[in-house]
This record gives sequence, C-alpha cells and structure tokens, in this order.
Amino acid sequence: MSRALFTAAVLAAAPIAATALAPVSAHAAPAHAAPVHAANTFDGVWLFDDAPPNPGVTMMEVTTRGGVIAGRVTTHWYGPIAMQAPHVENGVLHFTTRNINDREHPTRDWSVVLEDGKAHLKGQIWESAIDSKGYRGTSADARARAFHFAPLPPLGQPIPAHLAATPPMGWSSWNKFADRIDDKTVRAMADAMVSTGLRDAGYRYINIDDGWQGERDAQGVLHPNARFPDMKALADYVHARGLKIGIYSSQGPRTCAGYEGSYGHVQQDAQTFAAWGFDYLKYDLCSGEWFYPDADTVKRSYHEMGAALAATGRPIVFSLCEYGRFDVGTWGRDVGGQLWRTTGDITDDYATMARIGFDKNGDPAWAGPHGWNDPDMLEVGNGGMSPDEYRTHMALWAMSAAPLMMGHDLRESTGETLALLTNPRVIAIDRDSKGIQGKAVRKVGTMEVWARPLADGRVALALFNRGEAAASLAPSAQDAGLTTVSGAQDVWTGQASADFGATRTVPAHGVILLVVSGH
Ligand code: GAL
Repeated sequence: MSRALFTAAVLAAAPIAATALAPVSAHAAPAHAAPVHAANTFDGVWLFDDAPPNPGVTMMEVTTRGGVIAGRVTTHWYGPIAMQAPHVENGVLHFTTRNINDREHPTRDWSVVLEDGKAHLKGQIWESAIDSKGYRGTSADARARAFHFAPLPPLGQPIPAHLAATPPMGWSSWNKFADRIDDKTVRAMADAMVSTGLRDAGYRYINIDDGWQGERDAQGVLHPNARFPDMKALADYVHARGLKIGIYSSQGPRTCAGYEGSYGHVQQDAQTFAAWGFDYLKYDLCSGEWFYPDADTVKRSYHEMGAALAATGRPIVFSLCEYGRFDVGTWGRDVGGQLWRTTGDITDDYATMARIGFDKNGDPAWAGPHGWNDPDMLEVGNGGMSPDEYRTHMALWAMSAAPLMMGHDLRESTGETLALLTNPRVIAIDRDSKGIQGKAVRKVGTMEVWARPLADGRVALALFNRGEAAASLAPSAQDAGLTTVSGAQDVWTGQASADFGATRTVPAHGVILLVVSGH
C-alpha cells in the first residue's frame, strides 16, 4: 500500500484520528525542526505487544502530510494520546504528550528511534515509564487495536440513596495487601472480623479493593482473575458470617493498579456486581481522569454508575474515589454516593496521616447522614505509627465522622490494636446519629482543640498535639460551645475526668479525647 493510501486508510479506520490528529497539526513542528517534505521513515502503524500494563502502549501511528508530522500513541490507560510538536532531529522522532496529574510536568518528552526495523519508543506518562519496541503493522491491525470511545450520558436526576445513616465501617484490602489479594485471604479476613469481636463492635464491610479483575469475555462480561475462582461463593461466605462485602472498579479503561476498569461497560458491571451479591462499590477515577477531566464529566461519570447501581435493585453503597476534586461533597449525594474521598492516598506514617486528618478531611458542611467525607482508610495496626499516633489517627477519624475502614491484616491484630479499634466510646463518636463533622475550634502553638456536638447534647472534645514534644493546654467550656461543663469522660479509659478545666499535658503527636456534658 502506498503511503498516501495508508494514511487515508488509517484515518478512515479510526474516525477519531481526524479529531485526535487535528490539534497536533495545528501545533505543527517547532521552528527549529526542519520541515520534512517527504513522508518520513517513522510513518505507519507500529504495534507493541509486550509493553508493561501501565500505561499499556499497544500502538503508535505516525503520518506525514505536507511536511507536517502527526501521530498518536494508543494506550490501555488513556486510549489514544496525541503527539504534540512531533519533529525529526538527527534521525530521532521527538514529541511531547500531555501529562495530567503532575503540575510540575504538564508535558512529557518522548522519542522514537528505528532499530533493526523496529520502533524503539521511550517516554513517560504520570508515574509510568515507557521503553518498548514495536514492529510494523497494517491498517487492519490499526483498526483492530483502535480505542473505542464510550459515550457519556447527560447528567440524570439526583439519585435518592439512603444506605449509610452513619459512616460505613469495615475492612479493605488495599492498605495492607495492595493488589496481592485473593479469595482465601478475603475469607480469612471475614473469619477474623468475627473472631476478634470487630464485627460485633460495628465493623461490617469486607471490601476487596483493586486487583481482583480478570478479563472480559466475548460478551463483555468481566470475570475475576484466577485468584478469585468464584465471586458469588465468596460473597455468600462473607454474608453467612453476618457481614457485607464490597468490590472496586473505575470509570476509566484501567484501574489505578492497571486492571480492567468499567469504561464502556458501566451498566454491565453494575449488574455483575449485583448478581454476585456485592453490597458496596468503591469507584476510583484512575485512568478515567483523562476522559473526565472536569467537574461536569466527572460528575456525569459517577452518576452513570450511581444510576446503574440503582437500576440493579440491590442496595449497594456507592463510594466515590476521585481524591476530592471539584468539591465532590457538593454533588456526591446527587450521583448516588454515600461517601467520597477528600484526598489522595493515606500511607502508614504520622506525617501523611496528620496532613490528611487535620487538613484534608473535607468541608464539614458536606457531611451528614447518608453522605460522608472520606479521608481514606485506616492504617491502625499496620505498624508504621506509635500508639499515640494511632490514637490520634482514630480520634481524628471519629471527630471527622469519617468512614472507618480498617487496613491491616485482621489476623495479626494485637490486643492494643483491637482495644483502640473496638473502643465503644470512640466508635459512638464516629457514628453519632446527628452526623455533625467535628472541626478545630482553637489552635495554640502545636495544639489543636477540636469539638464535635453529639446527638444527646454532649460534645466530643479532642486536644491534639501536633508537635514533636509534649505540650500543655487547659480546655474550656467555650471550646465545647458550652457555658458550663458539668462532667467529662475520658474516651480511652471510660473513666470520669475530674477537674475538666485543669491544664493537661498531651504527649508529642498524641491526643486527649473527652466527651463533655454541660449546658
Ligand atoms: C488509588 C486509591 C487507593 C486504592 C488504589 C488501588 O487511586 O486512592 O485507595 O484504591 O487506587 O489501585
């Protein structure tokens, strides 16, 4: 096939090419690049078979017309990515790509060198480095590998979902196991949830996070991978223990860990999850950010899944995970969400936990029954923080009316970890029926005083010390929004705390947590 015919074939094969390539031509080659008058040697379709799953480069297409090079790289992660300012210099094809998610690097540099008839492609997208060799393909290959765009429906009516009167509590696989998760471990967690008393303390959900997905079949039905032989049987096992079970997907083509997402299969996946018997879905933006980059499209993409879940007729708690973008708390309920992440990921260290818990836990105005700010899952029990720091973690989450999703190996819970996680008074604060999210009312030096009004008129009061050394502070009735305090209870011990207004010393990174009564 001649080059011209080839070019026409590529453009015809994938209608998106016309639009995808147009902006590239508009940018044209930079002035320093000598115009290429003949079609260049990079022109054509290049196929990549063994590129790592993130971002999963499958194809590169290059065309030269009127001396202007245009092209794109197709990935599993973001679909086709247009080449920006492509130009050939000293036998190397250079271009940049748009790099979202990283303000310091809004574009990334890519290069292609021809080596032994192969295209050696190097580049980067977000955290993934690309260094792969592709071989020449045909326009039929290009058609077969073309990315299929899925239409995004217009925003529908608000979805009435009342499935989380109090913040959901349970366990999720991600913090401890990442995507190294399997059926056996999930069953073991359900067993441990019961045997440790965590279920009876209020923890109900056993949530499988990223890493369960396998392939879609010819009908597009998503199947679990080999580590999960029978999802329905697993859900039955968890349900038989008086627990509920959760699953994970993304509105993008790929999840954050590079597994199959729900892009183009939203209704189908919702039906699958319901048929398996799932009670909870965490829906994580991941690669969807490329397709849904603004408030309007993100909201519609969540609404699409929220409506699909509602249409199954099964009550499925909908957990939004888009890292707090676009004031999610102002619209999370409308798309059927009961909780929405307010931040990026937590890690098992005080600095990250504190940054999130003190400063990124979401606007209290957004929170209340059936709609909760989610500052991410717990790290209690994972070993990276001191006992004082884990107490601060738990106290911050309870004061914030945050979902309590444990993230450690429940089988390895120490007595100390269980005492903290099952403390009935801290759980009662978290799940207070009024659902008012607490907040800082006073900051002095390294100390922060937080108050959270409770349904019975009492007030939870936390004296946090963010500093590296012990610090002291005398709480006041005013801190609790009261005129007089008549009694105070220490949440950790359950003992009455005499002399409420006395100066108290709080250890470094520690907390004193009280429930005070008065008027
Ligand atoms: C992240 C998400 C994490 C976890 C992970 C799975 O985007 O914030 O909580 O779900 O993806 O790949």
